[in-house]
Formats: sequence, C-alpha cells, structure tokens
Amino acid sequence: MRALTYTTSGAPAEGFHLGQTPEPHAGPGQVRIRVHAAGISPLDRKTVAGERGEAEPPTPAVPGIDAAGTVDEVGEGVSDVSVGDEVFGLGSGTHAAHAVLFAWAHKAPQIDWSVAAAAPLAVETSQRALGLIEAQAGQNVFVDGGSGGVGAVAVQVALDRGLGVVASAGQDNQDYLREIGAVPVLHGEGLLERVRAVAPGGLDAVLDIAGKTPAEDLAALVSHLARVVSIANPEVAERGGIFTGPTPSAGPDEREERGLGQAMAHAADLLRRNALVIKVQTFPLERAAEAYARSTSGQVRGKVVLLP
Ligand SMILES: NC(=O)c1ccc[n+]([C@@H]2O[C@H](COP(=O)([O-])OP(=O)(O)OC[C@H]3O[C@@H](n4cnc5c(N)ncnc54)[C@H](OP(=O)(O)O)[C@@H]3O)[C@@H](O)[C@H]2O)c1
Repeated sequence: MRALTYTTSGAPAEGFHLGQTPEPHAGPGQVRIRVHAAGISPLDRKTVAGERGEAEPPTPAVPGIDAAGTVDEVGEGVSDVSVGDEVFGLGSGTHAAHAVLFAWAHKAPQIDWSVAAAAPLAVETSQRALGLIEAQAGQNVFVDGGSGGVGAVAVQVALDRGLGVVASAGQDNQDYLREIGAVPVLHGEGLLERVRAVAPGGLDAVLDIAGKTPAEDLAALVSHLARVVSIANPEVAERGGIFTGPTPSAGPDEREERGLGQAMAHAADLLRRNALVIKVQTFPLERAAEAYARSTSGQVRGKVVLLP
C-alpha cells in the first residue's frame, strides 16, 4: 500500500518518504480502515524526527495517530462496527492508504472526512487535561495556545462543559479565537497582564497547550499550582502542577482503562451537535513534506490533514 515511511531521525522533510509498504491487519480489539483523511500532530513530527525517546516505535514505520475512513477489516472481539462503516479515531501508522485503529467512533455522514480526522487526539487530550483539573461548569479557565490543533478543540470542549474561556494566540488568530467562543489575548511578553485585564475576577484553572510560557507565570494566574495542567511542558509538574503526556497506542484493556472509546464517542457527539468546529488545511499524501512543514511551523490555525 501507499504510505509515508521513516527510518531514521532527521528533519521531517528528509526523515520520511512516500513509497510502498505491507498492509497492516486488525489485531484483537482493533479495526482496519481505508484512510480517507489523517491529521498531522506535532507528535508525528517529533516521532519522525526521533525526538520521542522510549515512545518511538522501531523503524521503518509509518507515522500518524489520527484518521478517518471506511472500515475494511474487523479484529477479533469487535462488535460495534462492521466492514463498510464510516469511522474516525486513534490508531497508528495513519499516514497511509490503510491503518489500524485502537479507538474509534462512527462518523456522522454530514461531517467532513478531514474534520473528523482532525478531532481524535485533540478531543482525547482536551478531555483528559480538563478532567485532571476537575474543571466544573461556571468556572473560568485560561487556555495558553488556543488556536492550534489541540488548543482550538480544548477551547470548545471547555465551553461545551459550561466553562468560561480566555485563550491566547498570535495576532493573526485573535479573530479565530473569538469565532470559536473564547475571549482572546495575545501570547508572548506581557501575557499575564493581558489575561488579568480580561479576567478581573480571577481564573480557576490553566490549560497549558503550547508549553511556551514559564510554569511560574502560569501558576501566578491561579490560587494553587495544582490548578495548572500542561500537555507540553513537563516542568509544570516539577513545580507542583500537573503534566500529562501523550497516550501511547493501546490494547483493548488499556483502551477501556484510559477511556479512549468514550473520548471518541464524545468527539462524535460534539461534531454531530456542531459544538466542535475545526479549521483544517488539507494536503494530498504526495505533498506530505509540505504538510509536515506547515504543521511544524507552530503557526497552524486548527489542523493540517493529509488526504491519502
Ligand atoms: N500530552 C499530550 O497528550 C499531547 C497530545 C497532543 C499534543 N501534544 C503537544 O501539545 C503541543 C501543542 O499541540 P498542537 O497540536 O495544539 O500544536 P499546534 O497545532 O502547532 O499549535 C501550537 C499553538 O501554540 C501557540 N503558540 C505559539 N507560540 C506561543 C507562545 N509563545 N505562547 C503561547 N502559545 C503559543 C500557537 O498560536 P499561534 O499560531 O496563534 O501563534 C498555536 O495555538 C505540542 O507540543 C504537542 O506535541 C501533547
């Protein structure tokens, strides 16, 4: 099958190539899909560049975690989907013509393939981070880095839970933050003053999505360090806050334990209700180098998605 493969660490554009590789098969508790769209996350770039340490799979391997497609193989013990069903979810090696998913939900027909492929990792991560700070309806949170693949979703997941949201982004993405329902502030120097100015009553929690603002600055925005959760800066945990790392690929038991199926059902529900709108920029697989470079730029509005 056609797939991106990478064998060594290096710059993303040099680290993989488009070629032929054997088709994967669905193991117990998994499904295989014909991939219609596959999101690119900074985690994929880090994997291809060999920056994920122990989390790196042996190479040669195919990158990609998010995908949406049509089920063409159902693994042992799977009873909630059949061949031909349209699904999206979390898997491995999704930047290819076929990929195996370990957590999924049905895609409603009106939802674009590329939007469905942009949602899985971002919804799972947002839900996990909000759960760790036990954010309750009526509280106010600050999302640092609210315009990217995870951040724009975290903003909307928080709003859907009844939270008030202040979020940061660059100058070009201030209107985007407004569009998705956040009170926007500019990131970078002077951030704390700008956040305090728009949240004079204070904040209940901080979600650090970008990992760019020093942990002590984020802590200064809330009453207690345990009210800061980061998905991108482990130093936050060293200072008494919470750090949550990416969910690795998971077997059926882990999937249950980590609530991954439930997270995908949540994503499907948000999309169906139009409570989650994701801006996507799509590239054919042939232009994967360009797509990865775009994703790496750190200036993505929403998500970059490959169309295999
Ligand atoms: N732990 C986990 O489970 C997990 C899961 C997924 C991703 N991640 C990690 O989380 C991070 C974010 O992922 P993503 O997909 O959202 O990345 P992304 O799509 O590249 O978005 C990056 C975001 O960072 C913002 N940003 C840039 N400079 C900033 C600054 N100085 N201060 C605050 N925000 C700034 C960008 O805003 P502008 O573009 O508007 O400037 C944008 O909103 C990555 O490091 C990724 O590896 C972790």
